[in-house]
Amino acid sequence: MMYRSPTGIPIMRSTPFLLSLGLILSLICGGAAVPDEGPSDRHRLMERKLVATQQILTSLTREDYAAMQSAADDLLELARQQWTTDESPRYRAHLKDFWITLEGVSEAAEEKKLDGATLAYVQMTISCVKCHKYLRQPVE
Ligand code: HEC
Repeated sequence: MMYRSPTGIPIMRSTPFLLSLGLILSLICGGAAVPDEGPSDRHRLMERKLVATQQILTSLTREDYAAMQSAADDLLELARQQWTTDESPRYRAHLKDFWITLEGVSEAAEEKKLDGATLAYVQMTISCVKCHKYLRQPVE
């Protein structure tokens, strides 16, 4: 991938290039109708999920509400766009539960409520584990 160049330096120097690359990437990745590109694509998605989750935790410890809200919104965006492969009602229910917990983080951040955001973060973590537990169950 171009944006993962080993040094990163030539790309980082060119802001217009980065901006247009960002635009192109968002056009490519933005639509819900984008087909799943296989394991490597999914792997990247999972990495982004973990990074955003950690960003929320970091922002909680720093009481950085702007970072909290933006990380929660990033995660919500990822969830909305790309986790629509499983149509089963159970999966959908887990997904909705996850969205609600993320909205909880985002709203608490907006209202600058640290305890509320921390509670929503814990609920979100439970939601991660619950959906994954469901996914490991054998298909009936
Ligand atoms: C609604 C269901 C759902 C929720 C909620 C969910 N995930 Fe996932 N997650 C998936 C699915 C589906 C996969 C498997 C994707 C694939 O590879 O096909 C996955 C895979 C992963 C993987 C890779 C697992 C592996 O075995 O390598 C990680 C890491 C991950 N998720 C992290 C998270 C984190 C962190 C959260 C909470 C912030 C979360 N997930 C919430 C559905 C979910």
